[in-house]
Amino acid sequence: MKENTLAQFGIIGLGVMGSNIALNVENKGFSVSVYNYTEDLTNIFMNKYSEKNFIFTSSLQEFVNSLEKPRKILLMIKAGKPTDDTIDRLIPFLDKDDIVIDGGNTNFKDTIKRNNKLKNSKINFIGMGVSGGEYGALHGPSLMPGGPKNAVDNIMPILKKIAAKAKDNVPCVSYIGPNGAGHYVKMIHNGIEYGDEELICESFNILQHINGLNTKDIANIFSSWNQGELNSYLIEITAQILTKHDDLGDSKTPIVDVILDKANNKGTGKWSSENALDIEAPQSVITESVFARYISMLKDDRIKASKLISKEKQQKVQLKEKESFIESLRKALFFSKIISYAQGFNQMQTASQKYDWHLNLGQLAQIWRSGCIIRAQFLQKITDAFNKDKDLNNLLFDDYFLQITKNYNQAVRDIIIFAIQNEIPVPAFSAAISYYDSFKSEKLPANLLQAQRDLFGAHTFERTDRPGHFHYQWGNND
Ligand code: 6PG
Repeated sequence: MKENTLAQFGIIGLGVMGSNIALNVENKGFSVSVYNYTEDLTNIFMNKYSEKNFIFTSSLQEFVNSLEKPRKILLMIKAGKPTDDTIDRLIPFLDKDDIVIDGGNTNFKDTIKRNNKLKNSKINFIGMGVSGGEYGALHGPSLMPGGPKNAVDNIMPILKKIAAKAKDNVPCVSYIGPNGAGHYVKMIHNGIEYGDEELICESFNILQHINGLNTKDIANIFSSWNQGELNSYLIEITAQILTKHDDLGDSKTPIVDVILDKANNKGTGKWSSENALDIEAPQSVITESVFARYISMLKDDRIKASKLISKEKQQKVQLKEKESFIESLRKALFFSKIISYAQGFNQMQTASQKYDWHLNLGQLAQIWRSGCIIRAQFLQKITDAFNKDKDLNNLLFDDYFLQITKNYNQAVRDIIIFAIQNEIPVPAFSAAISYYDSFKSEKLPANLLQAQRDLFGAHTFERTDRPGHFHYQWGNND
């Protein structure tokens, strides 16, 4: 880059995500200044890309001075304290109207706090969800910026260029809403990601218990599912994973068979469930998926319990109608995925009202069509549903989703009965059908529950036949 020229965009943090986004921005014709807290990563990056349109800086002040005003600075660093520390060190060098964008997987509550903190300094703070992993960062992620609208508008031309493009060439980025809205929807995206992953894993587990199906057959099943309604990135990579073999041991063994069955997490799914509890949004599929990861981590206990409780020898199940069973499983998976999204979108709608964010849920589904981990063909159907009714309260009220769930719910029941009889855990499938059955129940046993609460705590109840709150004289226990 020519000397004394100022860069159009700045990136702090040259880990995998940061360096890939820096390359993505530079590839789209922008000059980029980069800085990393430790110089080792800057040096590696500089040695690799010295010919490109980068300014490599070794102090925060040098970095800030290398940027044209208003400065546009993307932080791609670890969420939490490192982000706070970097912001604190950065602020003294910044001017009014500069824009700081946090692209990490940050808790939206922290984004709200930082927004409030920076308001007085007139520095614009944007919390931006970035999805797509390493590949997406370089070739086009899905971007969810939230914060001051004018500041997001200012960086939008750059974001549109670096974002993934859907099939209709629409960039996968749009203004999400004020304050922590961007990180909030990224949190729900990740929760939905957990739900999709768990439902796929439960399907895989069921298929593994069927006699005559090996890992290659199961890969083919996922591959064929990817051609239809279930078409999505996560189904595609599942099929791909199941075709791969052990790279260190026996090359005939599928790699999944030697991967330890303990699923870790970085917390975003948990945050999404915590928030569902906070705002009273019934979001059971994601929450069961978070718990499924937790129970997977109890490996030692599971080994101990399996010796004490399980069948002595797990027999594979002989099926007469294998084809129709596999089709039922496909339907069960699609049904449960729809319920999980219905819950996630309903949670976002509740949050939108509670935090006064005016989220555009149809547009949100649109920017998840490409680039992000949950990208899927059926997201277009969600956009269509919100285009028909922007205030749609629950996806199940939309004709398309209503019909699918009506047609497919029997398949879920069949699959769950099969799983329970064969001692195969299906927490996410079970959560999906239970939500569906509760949601479509005009009458639930909450009347009895209200009576219990009133008897022991005089919490009062409402009646079906007249308005007001009542307390009943229950007798001895009153
Ligand atoms: C994405 C992913 C990404 C990451 C998750 C995984 O959208 O690119 O969501 O952010 O894969 O944080 O989270 P866990 O490690 O908790 O599974």
